[in-house]
Amino acid sequence: MEEFFTMPEFQAAVTAIRRYTSLQPQVGLILGSGLNALAESVEDATKIPFRDIPHFPVSTVEGHEGRLVLGMLEGVPVVVMQGRAHYYEGYSMSRIGLPIRVMKLLGVELLIVTNASGGLNMTYRPGDVMIIRDHINLIGMAGLNPLRGPNLAEFGPRFPGMNEAYAPALRQLAQEIALRAGIPAHQGVYICLAGPSFETPADVRFLRLIGADAVGMSTVPEVITARHSGMRVLGLSGISNTLIGEEGAPPPNHEEVLAAGRILVPRLETIIRGVLRAL
Ligand code: HPA
Repeated sequence: MEEFFTMPEFQAAVTAIRRYTSLQPQVGLILGSGLNALAESVEDATKIPFRDIPHFPVSTVEGHEGRLVLGMLEGVPVVVMQGRAHYYEGYSMSRIGLPIRVMKLLGVELLIVTNASGGLNMTYRPGDVMIIRDHINLIGMAGLNPLRGPNLAEFGPRFPGMNEAYAPALRQLAQEIALRAGIPAHQGVYICLAGPSFETPADVRFLRLIGADAVGMSTVPEVITARHSGMRVLGLSGISNTLIGEEGAPPPNHEEVLAAGRILVPRLETIIRGVLRAL
């Protein structure tokens, strides 16, 4: 049975969070596979397990802690999702989008999303950062859109535009911060697949051909939900492995994704802290 959430359900999640803290977060952060460490640096942190928030998806993947952290980072009030839910875990698209709408109701105006992804662009190396310039909603073209179902006009319009979904000014800012810090950073197109199986060599060649620079299993549903409700978005993709697209090439594995995460964590942290300081 497909599920769609109503305003009272979003409000119930907000009420549960408000029992822990009255902080009004300005920025929402979603930390992807192996990229959780930044949540530990939040000051005056209130930590709420996802399972204590009504309707929240409870992530099950290794490397995802599954809690909401509210506090201060670089002097900015933030709400951090330490771990995120993926479609392949069995959650509906509506449930994956739910935390974003809860963030919106908490006061969030800017969403920063991170993820681990496979590099399709031949110039990308593991450990590089890709500032997401645009995305291809391949999973959405197959019918999986978080906005499917009754539109909640309190959040946004029935048919939201997705031009410049990733704010150009924030991309430029992130690029400048990376350059100054000597972090290899590209701007490119992220493509979202459902997973959990990795791509075949033929998939890889197809994805490259249609204009994608990096491939992953997240981010796009959250970004669509955020843009629907008028949030600004910055997307940072950590390249954890490179995809060749030749028969006989070794498949990616979750261990190398987590290993690259260890290189990527300080790089993404530098960029995110720089962006927060510039707000
Ligand atoms: N493919 C899909 N998702 C990923 C990959 C990949 O190669 N690496 C990290 N997430």
